[in-house]
Amino acid sequence: MLKAETAGKAPRTSLHGHWSSRMAFILAVTGSAVGLGDFWKFPYITGENGGGAFVIVYLFCVFLIGMPVMMSEILIGRRGRRNPVATMALLGEEEGSSRHWSLIGGVGVIAGMLILSYYSVIAGWTIAYTLKSVSGSFVGRSAEDIEGIFSAFTGNWLSVGIAHTIFMALTIFVVARGVERGLEQAVRFMVPALFVLMLFLLGYSINSGHFAEGAAFMLTPKFDALTWDGVLVAMGQAFFTLSIGMGAVMAYGAYLPAESSITSAAAAVVVADTTLSMLAGLVIFPLVFANGLNPGHGPGLVFVTLPLAFGQMSGGVVFATIFFVLLIFAAWTSSIGLMEPAVAWAVEHFHKTRAQAATMIGILIWAVGFGTVFSFNVLADVKFLKGTFFENVDHLTSNIMLPLGGVFVTVFAAWVMCRNSSADELGGTGPIYNLWRFLARYVAPVAIVFVFVKAIGLLPDLS
Ligand code: PFF
Repeated sequence: MLKAETAGKAPRTSLHGHWSSRMAFILAVTGSAVGLGDFWKFPYITGENGGGAFVIVYLFCVFLIGMPVMMSEILIGRRGRRNPVATMALLGEEEGSSRHWSLIGGVGVIAGMLILSYYSVIAGWTIAYTLKSVSGSFVGRSAEDIEGIFSAFTGNWLSVGIAHTIFMALTIFVVARGVERGLEQAVRFMVPALFVLMLFLLGYSINSGHFAEGAAFMLTPKFDALTWDGVLVAMGQAFFTLSIGMGAVMAYGAYLPAESSITSAAAAVVVADTTLSMLAGLVIFPLVFANGLNPGHGPGLVFVTLPLAFGQMSGGVVFATIFFVLLIFAAWTSSIGLMEPAVAWAVEHFHKTRAQAATMIGILIWAVGFGTVFSFNVLADVKFLKGTFFENVDHLTSNIMLPLGGVFVTVFAAWVMCRNSSADELGGTGPIYNLWRFLARYVAPVAIVFVFVKAIGLLPDLS
């Protein structure tokens, strides 16, 4: 998929080759965006934050903040054509600012590693749930049984640890071989298959008798149910689900051919990812109400609701297995994006081979992941700041590091880089360019800082 640089057109070439086409780039970024964030995290945090109003804030964040941040990341990545740390240093200097912008790339590398430490644990759950699906563990079970299966599994640190280890090994394996091989084929098949399966499940949830209730929960804006902390979580989710704010998209952008349109690539990814998240919510909430479950169930929401539904439908064993296998693939293509900035940096900085860099970094991430493994069992009662170790890592990365990364990325692309440079990458100064520049200069950074300040409670409530 990545072929050696041949065109003399690109102002600068990437050490790692280029995507063979714009489609290959879109598939890779979509593979990174579509993941546990859509099927696991979005439903459970929507449930925890009261539904409708949260979803609306999330959608605003996706389109008014996420989209311009994603475009900024891609254009910076393509202009620099290096790993995020080196790209920020190079462009910082080139644009007459400072090499210290590399710090933003560095924070992104750390954010990616921290996210992967817990992402891999949840991905491990999907591996275990695939096995449970195949063996028919969910067939004909009651809600209590399924909840029991979930707590018995997550309560056993050894099983969770083994599943986490398997997933990290899979990730290291693919990253070590280079992003180029296999990823494109996987995404090409996985994303359409997920769409089809979600549409099928949507049909099932429409027939559950509680569709209206579920849809109303997700779509009726009850703003009094939403706190500023919830707004921060919605904004963090927009970053998390689009894989932005930490340099993953920047790293992929480094391999994008010079002539491809950044705007349409970003739009395709944002629309595909957001549609899948919304579908996941519309599948899950009717089933939550149909089975008398609590929408605020927490991280186990999907792992209880869907097995329950699969257990009651004919052919459920097959559908459950397909779903969890697809989820493993979706998580896998995302985990590669989470590790890519760190590995690309280590390869260029320490002159390691990809295999060495991926193994060393992977082992470090694997070890940190045990903090999350234990958060659901032996250390479940050890709470500080935002809760368990897992909850703190999640909060720190999604709600603080990624949006903060977004502020710096947009400020850099829209304030520090000269107009010629950004217009050059975005294909001229038409209305779309002007819209991007307005959102990236004013709307995104100001909104992010405002939400931070409100969530920390520095500004008084006017209501
Ligand atoms: N976007 C992924 C998801 O929604 O599951 C998570 C993610 C992947 C975040 C890659 C950041 C990233 F670089």
